[in-house]
Amino acid sequence: MECSVEERERKLEEVKKRIIIAKLPLHESATNLVFGKGNSCANIMIIGEAAGANEDLQGLPFVGAAGKQLDNFLHMINLCIDDVYIANILKYRPPDNRNPNDEEIRTHTPFLIEQIKIIKPKIILTLGNFSTKFVLGGFSVEGMKKIEGITSLHGKPVEKELDGTKFLVIPMYHPAATLYKRSLTQELEKDFLMVKQILEK
Ligand code: URA
Repeated sequence: MECSVEERERKLEEVKKRIIIAKLPLHESATNLVFGKGNSCANIMIIGEAAGANEDLQGLPFVGAAGKQLDNFLHMINLCIDDVYIANILKYRPPDNRNPNDEEIRTHTPFLIEQIKIIKPKIILTLGNFSTKFVLGGFSVEGMKKIEGITSLHGKPVEKELDGTKFLVIPMYHPAATLYKRSLTQELEKDFLMVKQILEK
């Protein structure tokens, strides 16, 4: 079926408005809602964890140092922002970039699920432990607890479905991790090259 960008943008805008009305945990300490960016008709959706300082200021995901890393990996496999849609587990920045807690994940992720249902990606790249565990754990906080860490799962595609729509999940290390552990750059490169191979099939 043809993708209508206007229709998807309209639906995403509605979700965004409902997030603001919901006054989610963390909204008071944050500067901006960090909803998502990219092509709403993309076949690839990328799910990160939560905004950092730059994202909070600009109201856009992956615009800081981790975003630069992500852009580099995407360019390496000839992709750019127009080829993907990017969103986070949390819609607001946690203070001091601390990890998301269960309550935050529970209240923020219904909106992420709505984003996924609108975008209908064929491939989801989950960056880091939180998004990988959430998606592979069946989109629930309880399910997350049963999922192994990213070290053992990265680079291993898994087929999943949401409301009858199938997609391939490819867990990856979070690009921010390469900033403090350089050796992970190679692992991420390998996993992105695998994405390229899958796309070429
Ligand atoms: N890290 C994330 O997971 N998301 C962002 O938007 C920025 C950094």
